[in-house]
Amino acid sequence: MFFAQIRAVGCALPPYIVTNDELATHMDTSDTWIRERSGIVERRRVADGVGTSHLAIEASQQALQQAGLKGEDLDLILASTLSPDYYFPGIGVQIQHGLGCRNIPAIDLRAQCSGFSWGLATADAFMRTGRYKRVLLVGAEIHSRILELSNRNRNFSVLFGDGAGAAILETQTGEEVPTAQNCIRGLIDHEMGTDGSCAEMLYLRRPGNAGEPTFQDLGEVRSEASLAHMDGQQVFKHAVTRMCAVMETLLTRNGLRPADLDLVIPHQANLRITEMLRRKFDLPEEKVVSNIHKYGNTTAATLPLCMVDAQADGRLAPGKLVATVTFGAGFTWGANLLRW
Ligand code: UT7
Repeated sequence: MFFAQIRAVGCALPPYIVTNDELATHMDTSDTWIRERSGIVERRRVADGVGTSHLAIEASQQALQQAGLKGEDLDLILASTLSPDYYFPGIGVQIQHGLGCRNIPAIDLRAQCSGFSWGLATADAFMRTGRYKRVLLVGAEIHSRILELSNRNRNFSVLFGDGAGAAILETQTGEEVPTAQNCIRGLIDHEMGTDGSCAEMLYLRRPGNAGEPTFQDLGEVRSEASLAHMDGQQVFKHAVTRMCAVMETLLTRNGLRPADLDLVIPHQANLRITEMLRRKFDLPEEKVVSNIHKYGNTTAATLPLCMVDAQADGRLAPGKLVATVTFGAGFTWGANLLRW
């Protein structure tokens, strides 16, 4: 039997820290509002000249180094971002080249904040066939360049930050695969879902190909259509409902009670969402990872950034039973169960 195990994680964070006070110099907001409504204290911003693929490559190199591997040892890349360097091709091919990999497949996976969760599920499915042995999964985002620091976009632009995270997965073989009940380390189960009827509740319309005569129009550059749009309250409600439901599904299917989990890694969109999830499952604070205060919402990079942090503080240690849970634009949602 083949199954997947996470062998190492890595991250890349631009050094520049954007404080809430700095944002308040550009729009009518305040440190108090941002902290109270979202839990965010600061986030990172890349310098000019840095691309999303650069962050992705840096995070991947760190993960490879942790695993004692080189780019040439990989046989599949899965890359998730909503903020690629180019409209096409995606960043997967740039990662393949930047890491000096062989001519392996590099798949771009678009699922926004659920990208890394779906990437774990996709990697697991490929690896269980025995076809791919060493898989790199990356989530990388540069949000800062699509954020307009203005009053009209303030409900969106204070929430997001730049960063990247990566994981190296390695195929293991054995008589048994990991389950919630045995102690075998590896990926156990996944759940994914979408509701495309809500696509326009959180989206960036232009430039694009939704039917306008041109892909991009100079006159639109400062129009509402070229700003990311979010119906914050609706997104919030759906996030809480879907994240709780997908977690419930994963627990029930695997015969688990919430208390059986050693750690929960939720997508970091809003501290209030994480808290509602934590209370719903009656989990103590130390069992639910939260780093939104440092990085804001980093979309596809969030789960691996949480993994790096939780590994550093000792909560993510070999043998721990872990659930991830995500929700994002689409709407998309996901959950993964794994033994670290
Ligand atoms: O990762 C993908 C998933 N994303 C999410 O899950 C995000 C979900 N949504 C949220 O996190 C929250 O809805 C927000 C943090 C975006 C907003 O919090 P809220 O408690 O839902 O606030 P609200 O939208 O109801 O706005 C309350 C007030 C409004 O003013 P009025 O109408 O009461 O006068 C807004 O105009 O806060 C105002 N406001 C702001 N004030 C200061 C909106 N943004 C800001 C801001 N600073 N940045």
